[in-house]
Amino acid sequence: MKKKTLYLTEQEEDLKVAAEILRQGGTVIFPTETVYGLGGNAWDFQAAEKIFTAKGRPSDNPLIVHIAEEAMLLELVQEIPEKAQILMEKFWPGPLTLIFQKSQRVPKEVTGGLDTVAVRMPAHPVAKKLLEIAKIPVAAPSANRSGFPSPTNFSHVKADMDGRVDAIVQGADCAVGVESTVLDLSGITPILYRPGAVTLEQIEESVGKVEVITKAKKDETPKSPGLKYRHYAPKARVEILHGNLDQVEEYVKKSCDKEKTGMLVFDEFPMFDERLVRFSLGSKNDADSAAHQLFAGLRSLDEQGVSLILAPEIPDRGVWNAVKNRLYRAAGETLVDLDKKATKILFVCTGNTCRSPMAEGLLSAKITSRENVSSAGIFADGTSVSQNSVLVMQEKNIDISSHISRQVTKEMIDEFDLVLTMTASHKQMLQAAFPKEKGKILTLGEWAGETEDVKDPYGGSIEDYRECMKQIARFVEKGCRNNL
Ligand code: TXA
Ligand code: MG
Repeated sequence: MKKKTLYLTEQEEDLKVAAEILRQGGTVIFPTETVYGLGGNAWDFQAAEKIFTAKGRPSDNPLIVHIAEEAMLLELVQEIPEKAQILMEKFWPGPLTLIFQKSQRVPKEVTGGLDTVAVRMPAHPVAKKLLEIAKIPVAAPSANRSGFPSPTNFSHVKADMDGRVDAIVQGADCAVGVESTVLDLSGITPILYRPGAVTLEQIEESVGKVEVITKAKKDETPKSPGLKYRHYAPKARVEILHGNLDQVEEYVKKSCDKEKTGMLVFDEFPMFDERLVRFSLGSKNDADSAAHQLFAGLRSLDEQGVSLILAPEIPDRGVWNAVKNRLYRAAGETLVDLDKKATKILFVCTGNTCRSPMAEGLLSAKITSRENVSSAGIFADGTSVSQNSVLVMQEKNIDISSHISRQVTKEMIDEFDLVLTMTASHKQMLQAAFPKEKGKILTLGEWAGETEDVKDPYGGSIEDYRECMKQIARFVEKGCRNNL
């Protein structure tokens, strides 16, 4: 789908070209005060489809329509509620998106099939000018590839979208740095779906009580489709740390021992460790700076090749809420509680060449780097892990090829908090050998709330190994959910 992307400046001549492309049904990326937007004519359902394709975005996730004048709002919506009028007077143009009942004319492709439409009037002079020249409402989601952090500068946009859109208008870095506040005014009580630079406190001060729904409930269709998608995520794993600076330092050092680790820090933080790749969000007293830097920070740490990004906890007020919302979603809500003692888990099977190394690999890939996971065998003799185990784990992108089998010892049983065996007979043997530690030895099945043993695939076909790996993965998944 590679296109030739035209690069344009902020000059009026260039904006005329951009406006014409939009009017002809093409796609144009332009800067706004929040993040760059990927625009298309909001009256044209085919332009909306082009936007979804360029982003790789699911087409049930609706777009925000951008306008330059209030007169255009009348064509987009059925009515303008009083609360909307108050908020528009106060915060438009600016980083506040309002959701209204849509007019007939707005194509359903733009609203992801919903009866409502999201509208925003950007304050950025280039966005404003472009909309004024184009004289059409412009549907524009953030100009990132779907799931990645929103672009806040030209180089992000180019990296994600070169060859995928008709034109890109180059501007300066986006001042706000996180997307607009999204507020639904289509029902009786206003609902906040996405916190942004216009804060909940400011909105409530103007129009009274607001309901806040910023997370999708499990197994329910969210009112704002964006809530159900993984968002803002860099390539690296993200973990939020809860603890004091000493605990954070200890955790940072351990992580640096294991892998290339990055961290979003505040200027006031100590160095922690010289191996740590740091990106400062500014002062811990400056929410605007943190919002401005957040996405650039996630992208920059990715570019430097870290596999883990650590981040501090973020307060629950004002613009910090916008930062917290994006960061915690990037982390998939992974909060590491450094006050809580980490669980050390040892998997045990017969030879430590097939089942227990797979269990070790599967659990390690699932949990934070804090917990300690290992494996051993009841009759192990220092041989390599079985080739079939390596192969089926590769299908899960987990590399266990360097594992060497080892014999379970009394020291190990003492050291680990939990010993999970593959079968009931392994469990009986260990409990008989270490009667004092009986309570911490259970089968993996029991830990997962199941009754089955994990049978030995030794000497079997690759399919036998795959089935075994899938069973272990199921048990590990359930066990984590129930216990960790
Ligand atoms: O700051 C911004 O709002 C940026 C710039 C480019 O203006 N745009 C932006 O758009 O962030 P996007 O598409 O990435 O995010 C729009 C969010 C999504 O989470 C979507 O689900 C929600 O707004 N949304 C849009 N229309 C909606 C509707 N009718 N009902 C509920 N949620 C809606
Ligand atoms: Mg977006």
